[in-house]
Formats: sequence, C-alpha cells, structure tokens
Amino acid sequence: MSSIAVRRKICPLLGLFLAVPAAIGQSAQIAPAKPAVLEIQTEKTLHSVSPTLYGLMTEEINYSYDGGLYPELVRNRALRDEGWEQQDWTLLQNKEAGAEMVMDKTTGPSAALTNSLKLTIKAASATEPVGVRNKGFWGYALKPNTTYSVSFYAKGDVGGGQMWPLKVSLVNDKTGKPVATATTPVGGDWKQYQLTLKTGAIPTGTDNHLELTAISTGTLWLDLVSVFPPTYKDRPNGFRIDLMEKMAGMHPAFLRFPGGNYLEGDHIAERYDWKKTIGPLVDRAPPPPPPTHPSPWSYHSSDGLGLLEFLEWCEDLHANAVLAVYAGYSMRQEHVDPGTALDPYVQDALDEIEYATGGPETKWGAERAKDGHPAPFTVSYVEIGNEDFFDRSKSYDGRFKQFHDAIKAKYPSLQLIATTPVTGVVPDVVDDHYYKSAEEFFDDTHHYDKADRGGSKIFVGEYATMEGSPTADFGAALGDAAWLTGIERNSDLIVMSAYAPMFVNVNPGGMQWHPDLIGYDGLTSYGSPSYYALSLFAGYLGDQVPDSTLTGAGPRFFYSVTRQQSTGMVYLKLVNASPVPQDLEIKLDKASGAVGKLLRLRAETQADTNSIANPKHIVPVESPLPLAGPSLHHTIPGFSIEVLEFPGKK
Ligand code: AHR
Repeated sequence: MSSIAVRRKICPLLGLFLAVPAAIGQSAQIAPAKPAVLEIQTEKTLHSVSPTLYGLMTEEINYSYDGGLYPELVRNRALRDEGWEQQDWTLLQNKEAGAEMVMDKTTGPSAALTNSLKLTIKAASATEPVGVRNKGFWGYALKPNTTYSVSFYAKGDVGGGQMWPLKVSLVNDKTGKPVATATTPVGGDWKQYQLTLKTGAIPTGTDNHLELTAISTGTLWLDLVSVFPPTYKDRPNGFRIDLMEKMAGMHPAFLRFPGGNYLEGDHIAERYDWKKTIGPLVDRAPPPPPPTHPSPWSYHSSDGLGLLEFLEWCEDLHANAVLAVYAGYSMRQEHVDPGTALDPYVQDALDEIEYATGGPETKWGAERAKDGHPAPFTVSYVEIGNEDFFDRSKSYDGRFKQFHDAIKAKYPSLQLIATTPVTGVVPDVVDDHYYKSAEEFFDDTHHYDKADRGGSKIFVGEYATMEGSPTADFGAALGDAAWLTGIERNSDLIVMSAYAPMFVNVNPGGMQWHPDLIGYDGLTSYGSPSYYALSLFAGYLGDQVPDSTLTGAGPRFFYSVTRQQSTGMVYLKLVNASPVPQDLEIKLDKASGAVGKLLRLRAETQADTNSIANPKHIVPVESPLPLAGPSLHHTIPGFSIEVLEFPGKK
C-alpha cells in the first residue's frame, strides 16, 4: 500500500493532517512553523488565463511512435531499415529445405517501396513449412480474445499459375505454438492481402512473434507486412488505446507536432518531409535515398504516423494542432540561406498549412480529402522551425521573416511562433525551452513576472525537471509543479506550455532521453508523478487569475490560484517542495460554504516514483474540503502537490 493511502486512511478530512512520522524515507513530518497567510480576492481579477495554457509536445524519440503510440506490431515492416535481416526478419526452415531469404532490390509493390523480401523455397511440405519470422518491437504484445488486423503485399511464383497457400500465424516464443492463424492464397503479381487473426484464451504477454509460412516450393516476395491491434476509437492506422487515454487525462488544449529535433533531422535530407508522410502507406517515403526516414534519435521512422495521422490525433483528443513547419535548418549545422534557395521550403510550409486547413476545393485540401478526411482541421498556431538559436550561421532572422511574410500574406489570422527572438519582425509568439534541475526551477518560478507584456506572447514549448529515469520522479514533479505555478500566474503572457519529451518505451534500448512523462512497454503504461501533477494543473484551471497575497510561507513553497468566472469556482494549487509541513490560513473574500475538494499528490522522498512494475505508487488522492466560513486552516504536508477546489460565489 502506498504511503498516500495510509495517510488518507488515518485522516480523511482536509485540515486534520496529523504529524505522523513516516515509517520510511527521509521526510519525517516535523511540526509546522507559524502559519502562513494566503488571501485570495476573487473580486479582483488581474487577468484572464490563456484557454490553451496546457497542451502536449511530441516527436519520434524513445520509440514514441513506432514501438509506442503507433501500435504496429511488425518491426521494419517495409524492409527499409538497415540491418533488416539480422535484426528484424529471420528465415524459418529445417536444415534440408535449402530456402533462401534475400533483399530483392529489383521489385516492390509501389514506386515508393522498390525493395522486397524474396523467399526462395526449394523444399517444403505441410509438416516442414518454410517461411519468415518477425520479432516485433520487444516481442509481439498479445492479449486474449483480441482481433488483430493483418495486411501484407505479396507476389508469388509457384509455377503453373497456381495460388500459394500462405499461412500467417502469431506464435508463442516459448511453446513454438501458434496462438492465432489464418491462411490465404497468394500468387501472381503484387497485390495487398488482408485478413484477421483472433486470439483465444491466451495469457497476456509479449513473448510472441509473427510467422508467414508456405508449404510448397517456389518464390515469394513480401513487403509492408502489418499487424495492428485494436486502436483508440477504432481508427484505421490509428493509435494505441492506453497511451491515448493517458494523454486525454492531461486535458490537452493543443498538440505540438512533429517535433522537436525530429522536425529538423540531423541533415536536411532527413528532415520531416511531410509530403512523404501522406497517402496510402504503400506510397509513402519514396526514394531517392536515403531509403528510409531516419529520426535523429538513432532509429528509423516508418512514417506510418504521418501528417494526416497527427491531425487525426488532435481530432481524437479534441486538441488544437500546433503545426511545426521545417524552416531550413537541420541539426548538424546545415541550413538553407534566405532568398530563392529557401522558397521551395516556404512553399512546402504553405502547402502543409493548406493540406491541414484548406477546403476540398484547394489543391492540398483535395489531397487530404482523397486521403480520407474531407473536413478541414483547425490550426491556429504555426511554429517556424525548432530551436534555431543553435544555427551558428545566424540565418534565422532572414529565414523566419521569409516564412512569416509568406504565411501571413496567405493566412493573416494564423499566429506564428518563432523558436527564438528575431530581429526585423515581432513574432506573434516566441517558443522558450527549459530543461533544469528542480532547484533551478524553484529559483526561477518568477521568471516571467516582470517580463515585457508589449511584445511577443510566450509558448513554453518544452520544459522538464531533469530528475528521474526513465520517467520523472517525485522530486521532478515538485520542480515541474512549482514551475507551473509561475506559468499560471503569467498566463496572460504565456499562451501555451508543454512538457517534453512525453513518451518513453522502457524496454532495454528504448530510451534516448530522460526523464520522460509517460513510460510503457508493449502491454502497459504508467504516468510519472509529473504526469499526475500536470494532469491536476490542467484539469483544475479557471479562466481568470484573481489577486492574492501570501505572507509568512517558508522557502520552497509555491502556489497559484485561478477562478472560473461562470461558476465562481476557485482552484488553488499548492506546492510544498520542502520536507517540512506548511501551515496555511487560506482567506477567501467570497466563500460559498459548500464542500469543496482536495486532491493531494505526495511522496516520502524526492526519489519516490512510479514504474512499469509499480505504476500507481504515487497518484492523486481525493478528499472532501469543508469550508464553513471565509477562512480555512490547512496544512500541506512536506513533499506535496495539492489542488484545492472551492465552490465559489458568482
Ligand atoms: O525534448 C527533446 C529535445 O530537446 C527536443 O527534440 C529538442 O527540441 C530539445 O532540444
């Protein structure tokens, strides 16, 4: 049982926290010092809260998409990654069969997929089948009584114009026995085959693989082999259900995509080239080389999660799209000079915006309709590049202006985000990134308090307290929550904020960056303490910041308060980053007297965390919050993050 649960059992009501020494850990509760006083003047509104304050940032890192949110079970399905035959696909045969598996660079199912897996079978029978095996991403995560959608392109030459019965099986690694099987006749020229595999009463597990086997001699070519589990809202080529639910739990107002460094690529040729990510999968990412789309994070992207899928992801989460367009700079100091050389990239961005937002009568809107989504998406913000302060050529001033002028000319109402301050034009918004220790965030929560309100708005497009691995620990959650109190206080200037990176596959070799917000393997996922802190902050947010004053609090104590104008509900966030409890006298000028709510996230130590094995060690605990009069005596325990919800008066 978690320490949170124990404490809740001892004292379920707010304000009656008993100074119980913790059984373990370093944070034995010391008697609180003199109460601090927090006065909230709900009558006096300082400013409104940005309606898009909390959102999500994403990119292909840590197997976020392939091997993560994009739930394709076949690894290297289009045979386009290096090392395909050693790592992902292996030949299945008995020793006498003399079969051969090679990469055939002369034939493929489309102009984009020009290679294929060629399987030559010299001897095979019903008792000695021959075929290929795919090991998947850390195995095939299979569940009982579940239907998997299988598809593949194949061409077969078995002689005499016959069709070849090809068996597709999901097989348990340990028993070698199929857990689901289907057979389809293949033969003739390239064609897509589709079937379903349904598991029975199998144990849930990842120790499974895929086999495609034949029982007669001949030659078979295969490509774009796909096995998809059920997806969120049953969307074809859609998203992993538990990860979408986790994101929905964060109440995101927007999603920034596709990155991050993933947008830029190491080299210009490895940028996120959106036109190669749309249309049927079999037509995506056409050559010329590089033959795949390497992400800068040491593995290749299948581009299965392309521009339309990003937009549908926003649609599924009811989040606005914050579209990041490639701006002519890649991470190995490659850039395109402003001027005519940059024109094609600017045009690509204009086309991309049209693909997302144009009606079906426009060129790229028609492409989107052809791809299956006639209705335009809403995009209010476009970000031009990513972290262009790294560009040592200092070309961003010119590049930004060129994109800015072209986009504003065609889409005057779009808000344009610069990735660093620029000269020559005032961007609507500037994207600031912060990766800091908890201590650094504690010291910087007033960063924006005195910032100029007359210029660009701010997007805190990436931030994270750099503590915990693979996911943020409770110390990081304290840093993040303290930082967010400053974001809320300055939510007139800060229009959006997002944690980064969001996802990590916790399997060996899955992580390139830590900490991350949400961890998973093939089967299950968990939220870090920071995930819960962020979810609380976004889930309990008003639309106004009322005036307030705090006196007498100890160091490492942070708060923010917002109010919902239509209901009068007041949301108070408290962060006690010290091990010592903080006594607080909360004075509200207008209290309704109704019972409110307390949500508490706490841990014994900063190192406490959640994990794939212990996913709910630290989760918010809810209890009632009785507020009889205009004042409440409240003690916030050491190492705690709280939301207090006060039903107010309108
Ligand atoms: O979040 C990880 C990386 O950090 C992002 O890709 C990049 O924008 C930043 O440097």
